[in-house]
Amino acid sequence: MSKDTIKIFDTTLRDGEQSPGASMNTEEKIQIAAQLERLGVDIIEAGFAAASPGDFDAIEKIAQRVKNSTVCSLARAMDSDVKAAGESIAKARLKRIHTFIATSPIHMEYKLKMNPDEVIKRAVRAVEYARTFVEDVEFSCEDAGRSDIGFLKEISDAVIEAGASTINLPDTVGFRLPFEIGAMVKEMSDYTKGRAIISVHNHNDLGLGVANSLEAIIHGARQVECTINGLGERAGNAALEEIVMALKTRSDVFTNFKTNINTKEIYPSSRLIATITGIEPQPNKAIVGKNAFSHESGIHQDGVLKNKETYEIITPESIGLIKDDTLVLGKHSGRAAFKDKLAKLGFTLNNDALNSSFERFKILADRKKEIYDDDLRALVTNEMTKATQVYELISLQLMDCSGGVPSAAVKIKKENDEIIEAGIGEGTIDAVFKTIDRISGYNGKLEDYKVKSVSEGKDALANVTVKVSFNDEPAIIGHGLNIDTMLASARAYIGALNSYLSMEGKLKSRYSDTSKTV
Ligand code: KIV
Ligand code: ZN
Repeated sequence: MSKDTIKIFDTTLRDGEQSPGASMNTEEKIQIAAQLERLGVDIIEAGFAAASPGDFDAIEKIAQRVKNSTVCSLARAMDSDVKAAGESIAKARLKRIHTFIATSPIHMEYKLKMNPDEVIKRAVRAVEYARTFVEDVEFSCEDAGRSDIGFLKEISDAVIEAGASTINLPDTVGFRLPFEIGAMVKEMSDYTKGRAIISVHNHNDLGLGVANSLEAIIHGARQVECTINGLGERAGNAALEEIVMALKTRSDVFTNFKTNINTKEIYPSSRLIATITGIEPQPNKAIVGKNAFSHESGIHQDGVLKNKETYEIITPESIGLIKDDTLVLGKHSGRAAFKDKLAKLGFTLNNDALNSSFERFKILADRKKEIYDDDLRALVTNEMTKATQVYELISLQLMDCSGGVPSAAVKIKKENDEIIEAGIGEGTIDAVFKTIDRISGYNGKLEDYKVKSVSEGKDALANVTVKVSFNDEPAIIGHGLNIDTMLASARAYIGALNSYLSMEGKLKSRYSDTSKTV
C-alpha cells in the first residue's frame, strides 16, 4: 500500500530566528539552509522578507542556492510584504509564499482592529497577489487554535478560491491539548478535502507541540511546521527531530505515513544550529540532547551491554550520531585524513574553505593533543559561517587580573594596517572589549556572553558566544574558538563586529512595531 507523505516544513530560519538571541548573519543562514536541504526537508521557510533588508538578502541568497527543497518567505497579508516575499524568492527553483492574518476574536478585535469580513478581504487580496508571483501559496489563520471553526471554514473557502493550496492552522500560543487539535484538524481536513493540504504549526507553551503535531497527522494534516531543536518564539515550536523520529520509531502506529527526511542528518543539523545560535538543547532533550543516549545507572548499563534494545528505542546511528569518536585527529594527521573525517561528519567544503579549515586545524593540533569530532564541527562551522573579516585579531596581551586595574593591549589588522591600542576596564573582558571598541570606533553594547567547552580535557577548546548591539541596532551574535578563553572572547567580539559591518543598515526592522509578526 502506498504511504502518504507528511511534508516537513522547517521554520528554524524564521520562527526559530525569533527565539530571543538567535539572530544570525547571512552566511550562517546559508549554511543552515544547505544543511536543511541535506536533511531532506520539503519546505524551508528562509525568513520574513519584509522584516528588514538583511532578512531579504538572506532569503534571496538561499533561494539561489537551494535546489531540492521549496524556499519560502513569510508575508503579512499586505501588498508590500507579499511583494518583498515574491521578489526575495524569485530565483528559487521551487518557491512558495506563506501569507497570514489572525483569525481569532481576540486578535481581530485588539490587534488588527478589523471585523471578520475585513480580515477575509485582506486574506483574499494577499493570496491573489501572491499568486501573481508564485503558483504555490500557503495561507495561515494565525491563532487558529483559538479561532471559531465556522470562521476558519469561511476564510479557508475564500483563500482556496483565491488560489491557496495549503491551509495552515497554527496553535500560535500553544494553548490546545492533543484531542482538541485532533478534532479541529479532522473537521477542517474533512471540510477542505481534496481542495488544500491541511498543515499545523504548534507552539510549545504547554510542552505539547510535538504531541499536538502527531495528533494532527492522525486526523488528516499532511504538513507539519517545526524547527530544529524546537527553537522558536517563547517556549519554541514543535521539534522537527522529535516528530520525525516518533513517526519512524512508531511506524507500527503511523503505518500509512512517511517523510522525506534523511534521519542521519538530524544530529549534524542539531549541532550546526546549536553552534551557530549558541543555544544548546537541554541535556535531557529528546533525540538530540547530550544525555539522550547515555545510560547512567548500573542496571541500565548492564541491560544495554546484554542487548541494546533493553533500554534503547532509537539507535544513535539512525540520527547520525557516530558514537565512535575514537578516531581522533592529531598534529600528524594529513589533509586527506582531515577531509575524510569532515566528510564523515557531513561537511562538504569547497577548496578555499577546506584550505582555511585545515590551516586552523593545524594551528589547533599544535596546541591540543587530541582533536575530537565536536572540536572539528565547531572549528569548521566557525570557519564557514564567518562574515567578511574587516577586522582580524593579531594578538592580545592582558595585564593584572589580580586586584590591580585590569588592562588589555590589543593588536588588530584592518586591511593592510595593523593597529595597536591599550585600555582598562572593570574586569578583563571589559578591558578587552573596550579596547576593541576604541580601535573600531564602534561602541558595542554587550547583551550576552557565554562560554562553553567544546569537548573534554583541560586543554578543551573554549567556544565563546557573545551577543552585541552596535549603534543601537538589533543585537548580533559573534563566536570565538580558542584554547585560551580570553582569546576566544576577543575573537567572538570581533566576529560580532564583522557580522555587524557585513549587515550594517540592514538589520533594523522595516516597521515601527518591533515584533516581527504582527
Ligand atoms: O505562530 C504563528 O502563528 C506563526 C504564523 C506566522 C504561522 O508563526
Ligand atoms: Zn509561530
